[in-house]
Amino acid sequence: PKRVAILISGGGSNMVALADSMTGDHPACPVLVLSNDPAAAGLTRAAARGIPTAAVDHRGFRGDRAAFEAELLMPLLAAEPDIVCLAGFMRILTPAFVDRFAGRLLNIHPSLLPKYPGLHTHARAIEAGDAEAGATVHLVTRVLDEGPILGQARVPVQPDDTPETLAARVLTAEHRLYPAVLRRFATGDTTRVDL
Ligand code: GAR
Repeated sequence: PKRVAILISGGGSNMVALADSMTGDHPACPVLVLSNDPAAAGLTRAAARGIPTAAVDHRGFRGDRAAFEAELLMPLLAAEPDIVCLAGFMRILTPAFVDRFAGRLLNIHPSLLPKYPGLHTHARAIEAGDAEAGATVHLVTRVLDEGPILGQARVPVQPDDTPETLAARVLTAEHRLYPAVLRRFATGDTTRVDL
């Protein structure tokens, strides 16, 4: 099976969805969960599943992204991943890092890209009066939240939605989307998943 490393920053619910999907005859297996925050709840959830974990606290590097990434690369390269999944990983990666994993670095973003790259996606969708919102899984390129789209999941925006209620609906869709994309991607199939 393809070896998958998952990078997180927080709760790790997408990491859990990915990890729990990789059972039986799945074409991939989780080999590492790596966080930029040693206190990320997702690390505990990964360890509880028997997945090796590591953390490199970005705050020790005073904004020196190259130095931070050099540390991040140590456990990551040691795990020999075929595929690297960003799952709620909230640090911007440098071109050197992105290039090293070109074509096998995936990200999930909580909007229907190309709409709303960056932060506060749900507030922006509500503010714009959008009828639907969703999430996108894409290959990571040097430009933030760009890169070939591997899949999207759509949900309705309800009239009474707040950013929080919409985020919860989108997150549930993310948990279906990311495993569906990974399963397909791990077999070498990059055709789009639409949910
Ligand atoms: C998810 O909604 C993910 O799409 C988003 O953070 C959340 C992480 O939740 N990612 C980004 O905003 C990336 N810029 P999780 O830790 O429970 O998976």
